[in-house]
Amino acid sequence: MKKDLQISYEYFKNSSELSDIENTLFERAKEARENAYAPYSQFLVGCSVLLENGEIYSGNNQENAAYPSGLCAERTTVFWVAANFPNVKIKKIFVVGGPKEFHKKNPPIPPCGACRQSLIEYETKQNEDIDLYFSSMNEEVVKVQAVKDLLPFYFDSSFL
Ligand code: THU
Repeated sequence: MKKDLQISYEYFKNSSELSDIENTLFERAKEARENAYAPYSQFLVGCSVLLENGEIYSGNNQENAAYPSGLCAERTTVFWVAANFPNVKIKKIFVVGGPKEFHKKNPPIPPCGACRQSLIEYETKQNEDIDLYFSSMNEEVVKVQAVKDLLPFYFDSSFL
């Protein structure tokens, strides 16, 4: 039996189509991207997180001379948020990435597979979907209404 999967996403051609809070998150992610520590890849990623109480936190990718010891912007940021506010729900996550030498043609940068898995852990834990946005610096933005939309057949604690 063949079955099909379908996901919906929104596409914004530039930031003028975003709401005020979305634009604020975009700006905070871009600011955080400037502080990324990415001397090996020269690929800078920033991430901002909106909590249910309206607070916004941000972070970026952190690399290491022992390459696998580094961490993506999404996990650096969300692990910090979860460590400090374990009982506050996450409403939105905004990711902005691109090479240090940025070109207009760079497309929106989607979270890597490991980040999708890590973010789904918190979406499952809080039992509420998280809006996820990803963009390049050129203002094109993609939005999905849940992290799990980006990872069909995800693994979570229900299987343990
Ligand atoms: N990176 C992120 O921070 N987030 C992603 O989802 C994709 C990749 C980082 C990891 C590494 O520091 C650099 O981008 C190049 O892969």
